[in-house]
Amino acid sequence: MTGEDNDEAGESLTGDGSGSGEADDPDDVVRRDRFSGGPARGFLSSLAADERLFAADLAVDRAHVVMLAEQGIVDDADAAAILEALADVEAAGHGALPDGEDVHAAIETAVVDRVGAAGGRMHTARSRNDEVAACLRYRLREDVLDLVEATVAAREVLVDVAADHVETVMPGLTHLQPAQPTTLAHYLSSYESALARDTERLLDAYGRLNRSPLGAAAFAGTPFDVDRERTAELLGFDGLVANAMDAASTRDFLVETTAAAAALATTLSGLAADLVIYAHRGFVDLDDDYASTSSVMPQKKNPDAMELVRGTAGDAAAGLNGLLSTLKGLPRAYNRDLQRAHPHAFDAVDAVVEATEVAAGAIATADWQADTLAAAAEEGFATATGVADRLAMAGVPFRTAHEVVARAAEQGADYAAVEAAAEEVLEEPLSTYVDRAAVEAALDPEESVASRDSVGGPAPAAVDLDREVASYV
Ligand code: ARG
Repeated sequence: MTGEDNDEAGESLTGDGSGSGEADDPDDVVRRDRFSGGPARGFLSSLAADERLFAADLAVDRAHVVMLAEQGIVDDADAAAILEALADVEAAGHGALPDGEDVHAAIETAVVDRVGAAGGRMHTARSRNDEVAACLRYRLREDVLDLVEATVAAREVLVDVAADHVETVMPGLTHLQPAQPTTLAHYLSSYESALARDTERLLDAYGRLNRSPLGAAAFAGTPFDVDRERTAELLGFDGLVANAMDAASTRDFLVETTAAAAALATTLSGLAADLVIYAHRGFVDLDDDYASTSSVMPQKKNPDAMELVRGTAGDAAAGLNGLLSTLKGLPRAYNRDLQRAHPHAFDAVDAVVEATEVAAGAIATADWQADTLAAAAEEGFATATGVADRLAMAGVPFRTAHEVVARAAEQGADYAAVEAAAEEVLEEPLSTYVDRAAVEAALDPEESVASRDSVGGPAPAAVDLDREVASYV
């Protein structure tokens, strides 16, 4: 094949690589344009999309050149000239780069333009294959930390708002039907718990993302005496992806970070869906900043921001799917398909960072309607399970208690109904088992909540908001 070998076409190993000035005309040494002048030029090039990798590539170039100089592979004068040129390229910005197949090639061309042929020594003992892998990890590290930061901030908001609502009784729903009363604190803290695991998944992926592939060269190592630990250290990586073939070709770090982002987005989609429903029920008034109106219906206040947060789970899942589909079945070692893999990850992470920040903002500014929540908790005989529990605690087998309360549900769902149903099913007066006050308490949403003080339960005493959220960062 030809096109994929462009990378090798630009590299010529001359002895130990030291010395300088074999050619003055940069075109004599940067020959990768040989294969990319045709109609596919735009298709082959990722230069525009690579803007995201511009700073990363400069960092990777610098670390590599410093290491080459320290190892005596490139002499200090050439290394200094290259580093100076890189500073100049950085100042000029991505938009000033010469044309190229990607940011890596364009920066190299820009360096050679400034330094002359000796600038071509920058690409000694490496390939764009290990270079791009290092750039991706370097840049994605930053993005994952942004996502972790946004997630931790959202968790702090959830815990803060929950702290104000430890006693705010609300209906807990299953199948969207009244199920059992709970509190707003219990509800919000359930999402904080889920986001804590999302944070852990991101940090777990970060641990493997943060390793250096640099020095793997094309995939097969290099005869130069490179110090891979040193470039890893200079770039802040925590160790190496040692096997050169693995280092140059794997993109599993994209998969796991995108998967973690998709899991987070899925968590947020549930929270957002609840808020859409809660806004509909009048449980919460979302701040105007997180709502939209209608272009035609003047009275409308729609929870659009929450719907978009919910929809972002689709973007993230699509990104993960796109990534996996691109990577599936790729043979070893490098294939140019990989150029189309990482945008899926970056797009997904961007969308999820934004959605996380918006969800946190909506929660922080929402106005919860405690009276409406309390009234809704009275609906649909949501205390039924608690009444059955009370009978079971008094010695009635739970299944029998369930039958008593099921009948009471059909007969009015109040004390009189429970009393009548108990007579029917137990063939004994209810008072044989439990006194009226205890049943009345079980029928009261607030007391029902207070009674459920098992670990993780909604009773004010059981809701644990004393979390060290910030300890994750
Ligand atoms: N732009 C390429 C990418 O993103 C860089 C690596 C090119 N390597 C090659 N052998 N053609 O994957």
